[in-house]
Order: sequence, then structure tokens, then C-alpha cells
Amino acid sequence: MSGVKLNQLIKRYGDVQVIHGIDLEIEDGEFCVFVGPSGCGKSTLLRMVAGLEETTEGQIMIGPRDVTTMDPSQRGVAMVFQTYALYPHMTVKENMGFGLKMNGHPKAVIDEKVAEATRILKLEDYLSRKPAALSGGQRQRVSIGRAIVRGPEVFLFDEPLSNLDAELRVEMRVEIARLHKEIGATMIYVTHDQVEAMTLADKIVVLKGGYIAQVGAPMDLYRDPDNKFVAGFIGSPAMNFLDGTSTGAKAEIPALGKTVRMPKTDKGRAVVMGLRPEHIGVDPKGKTHTVELIESLGGVSYAYLVSETGEKLIVEERGDVRSAEGDNVGLTFENERLYFFDADTEERIR
Ligand SMILES: Nc1ncnc2c1ncn2[C@@H]1O[C@H](COP(=O)(O)OP(=O)(O)OP(=O)(O)O)[C@@H](O)[C@H]1O
Ligand SMILES: [Mg+2]
Repeated sequence: MSGVKLNQLIKRYGDVQVIHGIDLEIEDGEFCVFVGPSGCGKSTLLRMVAGLEETTEGQIMIGPRDVTTMDPSQRGVAMVFQTYALYPHMTVKENMGFGLKMNGHPKAVIDEKVAEATRILKLEDYLSRKPAALSGGQRQRVSIGRAIVRGPEVFLFDEPLSNLDAELRVEMRVEIARLHKEIGATMIYVTHDQVEAMTLADKIVVLKGGYIAQVGAPMDLYRDPDNKFVAGFIGSPAMNFLDGTSTGAKAEIPALGKTVRMPKTDKGRAVVMGLRPEHIGVDPKGKTHTVELIESLGGVSYAYLVSETGEKLIVEERGDVRSAEGDNVGLTFENERLYFFDADTEERIR
């Protein structure tokens, strides 16, 4: 087993630079998730580790080995893609063993490894079926099985669950977590689903425009984001942001119709206040906000509010007493729950 280390990794396609000097260390056995909006470079970075994209500059280490210019087959990695790419004319068993067979492994070894992967993925009942006779989730299990039989030092997943329906996604997410527990290999997993990122990762790497916005454990990113981008990306529904101006040790927030305490900073500085939907209460006696819409999911509902100044905000409500559309309300929250960012740089003000 091996960790992965990226040193000053750069990727250019012609004149266009898409990865801008990434430094990252992934520990041996760690589950690392790359997350970020479409086009931020998640797949490119993963494919560079796999050796499917040439590295323009920088270095990729897997364990003690510099693999930067190595062939994909030499790197000790196995990749699982969004599309399962199974051979349609082969059975499940043949699909899983094919890579080993091509590499000239003896049949006994192949059978043993396929049996092990079959057990881990609970595919016993499907071994003689062809891919066309499998559900999406079963097909994806087979493609994960194909990765397992290769016994890689590092598993690479590029959005493996995005072709599955919502229910199956949850099921497979749990399976992948279990797989990681059982085999303990280093895994790098790309997704733009932040629930997957939060639940699977030991370490999340939030990417934005080919740069790292922040690296950390899921709850550290949730509790202590370094910038507005990460604050808005991690957490669902997303953090609310309200414009304001610093008065020194306080911030004047027009949408709240009042000032709130904030870390001391230059008077007059334009700031953005952040507050998560789950950290806001509704005060029926207040009058700063109107409830425009309620989304009721059962155990929880989301109230969509608009302030007199026209700024929108989401409040999460639980329990028996909840707001109704058309209500005129105020907000309650603890000052400790507030985040502040510079309005221009979007960096956190601490
Ligand atoms: N062959 C290429 N030539 C030029 N630009 C490319 C090429 N491949 C990817 N890019 C660009 O590199 C950037 C990163 O792409 P990448 O596929 O890594 O994004 P991603 O984060 O995986 O997005 P998604 O969530 O949509 O899969 C994008 O702006 C993309 O247009
Ligand atoms: Mg991608």
C-alpha cells in the first residue's frame, strides 16, 4: 500500500493551463475526495495520477516511486469510471478476470482473485451473466471488481455513481465505504456530489478553477472554511450570504436591519456575512423577512425568505412549529455561528 504525493503539478493543453501547480499529500490508506464544480479540473488531476494524461510540469509520487512519466500499467493504480466500459460479450466472471488474463497470469491465480472480488462485492449470483442482463448498480460493481482483482496500490474513481438513480447511489456509496474499510487501500474519488464527499472522505480537496481552494477533513471544512467558495460549496442547503460593511468590530448588515459582532477589521471594509440554514431560527415577532416559499420534506422543511432589502435566505426548520408562506418574521441566531469574508478577495476574516 502506498500514499500519493503531488508536487507542483501543472497541466496545459496548448496555451490553456487547467491545473495550476497543485501540491497535495494523500496518506497511505486514506480516502481522498476531489470535489468542485464542473470544469474545475477534478478528472484531469485524477487522470494525471492514473497516467492517462501527460503531466506538463511537476512530479507524481506513489509510495516511494516517481511515476510521473511511467505508463499507466506500471503505476500500480486501477481506475473506475462513470461509464462501466464492460465487454458486452463476456460474462461477469470473464470481465473481471480479463485484465489478468491479458497480462498472462495463470488461471488458478485469476480464479482466486476473481473469487475474492466476487465475495467482497457480493456478485456470486451473477458470475455467468452478461452485462446486458445486469442493473446499473450491478454493472458498476463488476467494474469495481475489475479494479479489485488487479490488486492496485491506489484506486481511482471518477464519479462512479453518477449514472445510477438516487436510491442506488446511496446503496453504492455505502458499499464503497465498506470496500475501503475492508481492503484499506488508498483511494482517490472524484465527485461533484458534496454528500458523497462528506460521507466517504477522510480528506476532501476542494478544487476551483484548477487551484486547491482548501484541503481538510469533512467536518473541518464545514466548520472552518477558509474562504467563501468552500463555505458555499460544503453544506446543504448552501450557506446564506448577506452583504455588509465593517464598522470596526461590528458589521452593519442591511438585510438584518442591525449590526452584528465580527472580528476586528478596517472600518468601511465591504464584507459578506455567512450563516448556515441550520443555524437560523425564525422569530414570529420580528418583521425583517417575508416567507416566500416553504419546501416541506417531512422531518425538515426549508423556508425561503426574502428581506426588506431584497436579499434571499434559506432557513431550515424542524419540530412541530414551522413557518407558513406569507409570514412576516425576524431571524434569530447565535453570534458564534456567523462567518465573515472579504467582499473582494472572498477570503475568510477571522
Ligand atoms: N483535451 C482538452 N483540451 C483542452 N482543454 C481541456 C481538455 N480536457 C479538459 N480540458 C479543460 O480542462 C478543464 C478541466 O476539465 P476536467 O474534465 O478535469 O473537469 P472536471 O472538474 O472533471 O469537470 P466535470 O465535473 O464536468 O467532470 C476544463 O475547463 C476543460 O474544458
Ligand atoms: Mg470530470
